[in-house]
Amino acid sequence: MSESPQSETQKDGAGLEEAGTSWEPRIVAFICNWCTYTGADLAGTSRMKYPPNVRVIKIPCTGRFDPLFMIKAFERGADGVLVSGCHPGDCHYTAGNYNARRKYTVFKSLLETLGMDMDRIWFSWISASEGGKWVDTIQKFTGVIREKGPFQEYREMIDGG
Ligand code: FES
Repeated sequence: MSESPQSETQKDGAGLEEAGTSWEPRIVAFICNWCTYTGADLAGTSRMKYPPNVRVIKIPCTGRFDPLFMIKAFERGADGVLVSGCHPGDCHYTAGNYNARRKYTVFKSLLETLGMDMDRIWFSWISASEGGKWVDTIQKFTGVIREKGPFQEYREMIDGG
């Protein structure tokens, strides 16, 4: 895991945690090093604008993604989680993204049984040349999470309340 391609201001979380009065969606994005991270970087170097609500965690491949990372992110206050990697057929480790999709499919049914709000979890395939798709995905996902509000149900569920 590594740091995000975002600006210094976005990286240090300025304006989110300390705001207190106005809630802002907190989105954690687990993105693969080879495609989506490079696409996000391209968006940054092309000076495309997108909401600063996303915290990027770089992983070598979506095949490395463990669904428990998502649970950890929610436990630590995320309101939405995005997982994004290479398009099917383009994974640098051949089938990592297929494995990720399979793992998630199994885990998804468990989460649905537990009553998890599945709209707060998005999967996407974004290539290194799709800076615009990265921007579009972050804009849309931030909009969905903003409309839903803080993930209070999850906090209450883990607090036992
Ligand atoms: S290297 Fe990107 S999903 Fe496997």
